[in-house]
Amino acid sequence: MSVLSGRRVLLGITGGIAAYKTVELVRLLVKAGAEVQVVLTDGASQFVTPMTLQALSGRPVRQALFDEAHEAAMGHIELARWAEIIVVAPASASFMARLANGFADNLLATLCLATAAPLCLAPAMNQQMWQNPATQQNVAVLRQRGVQLWGPATGDQACGEVGPGRMLEPDALLQQICAHFSSGLLAGARVLLTAGPTREPIDPVRFIGNRSSGKMGFALAKAFVAMGAKVDLVAGPVTLETPSGVERTDVETATEMEEAVLGRVTSCDIFVGCAAVADYRPEIVADQKIKKNSEQMAIHLVRNNDILATVAALPDGPFTVGFAAETQSPETYAEKKRIAKKIDMIAANLVGAQEGGFERDENALTLMWAGGQVVLPMADKGELAKQLVKLIAEHYENRHTIKNT
Ligand code: CTP
Repeated sequence: MSVLSGRRVLLGITGGIAAYKTVELVRLLVKAGAEVQVVLTDGASQFVTPMTLQALSGRPVRQALFDEAHEAAMGHIELARWAEIIVVAPASASFMARLANGFADNLLATLCLATAAPLCLAPAMNQQMWQNPATQQNVAVLRQRGVQLWGPATGDQACGEVGPGRMLEPDALLQQICAHFSSGLLAGARVLLTAGPTREPIDPVRFIGNRSSGKMGFALAKAFVAMGAKVDLVAGPVTLETPSGVERTDVETATEMEEAVLGRVTSCDIFVGCAAVADYRPEIVADQKIKKNSEQMAIHLVRNNDILATVAALPDGPFTVGFAAETQSPETYAEKKRIAKKIDMIAANLVGAQEGGFERDENALTLMWAGGQVVLPMADKGELAKQLVKLIAEHYENRHTIKNT
């Protein structure tokens, strides 16, 4: 039986060309056994007809806030109560602005205010509109209130531009809705995760390190536990509390991290390399503190093994996810790393003085895999981790299903 069987999905459609794709989402939801109530805004009805959606959903489509016939059958408050989830796809910039400001001036916005059900938006708009600070501020407000944002994806737009703002494809939205209803999507899965920096000693008091705080990796560990996974966390030197339910191993150097990972990897299903592993270590570690005897000094460094690539090369190895922290062109470098290291997914982010990432509570990522990517805009690392884990879980599930068929 499908996870969506009998689930009550209120599907809101706002005005945008992507509305034509939502017609397919209605079909997929109904096929998966969901009860679908479609609510259109006036703008949406310029793009798709109530007749089509009524035929596919098997229910009269709702549009007007004060509609005597429908109010008698099921009033808008009842409809808000009926929904187990409200999904708005596409969610236009103007609709998000309306929601962020709490307006109830059309039926869909009223339902969103009046419901206790989780609210999920699939934004779709011109890339400039998406990146406009007004939209980004509304996005931040909505996220802070617990509204989930699915997408947008990056790519060619109907307006001829290229960038973030494409609505996720209907099957990706279906996956998101399924994930929402399958509590513990990763129930029973074993996840091995690296987090934090490594320290490569120079002498007993000095080391080569980096600015990784470990916050992203620890947030991921927590999000994996929430999804029902069993989590082994190999952490570099950080001062963070272990999330409950997580098995933690502390290490210092890249070599120790590699040993800890290889000792645990055979029993894991998913490996996530979130640690900022030092690429090089001093060839010789001085026994005693080095004295400043000369004007210059050189430290000879040797390469550390790439833990992620080693895990990805294991025969019958786990599903692998890496990170690429870059100071420029993150997507381009990340894609090269994904291919070179032969990993399933990579999360690219920009780091540097002005950007998110290291030493901060917020981050923005682009999650990439063979043939696709999703932009996860700037958000608190806890929130971002939840979105990442959901996407990882879905792709892991897909690979699993393909492997077992
Ligand atoms: N990684 C790893 N072991 C290493 C180096 C990196 O497991 N010795 C993993 C990181 O955890 C991360 C990914 O590889 O998931 C990307 O690491 P990064 O250092 O950014 O990439 P490199 O391949 O080392 O490339 P470069 O330093 O040239 O950017």
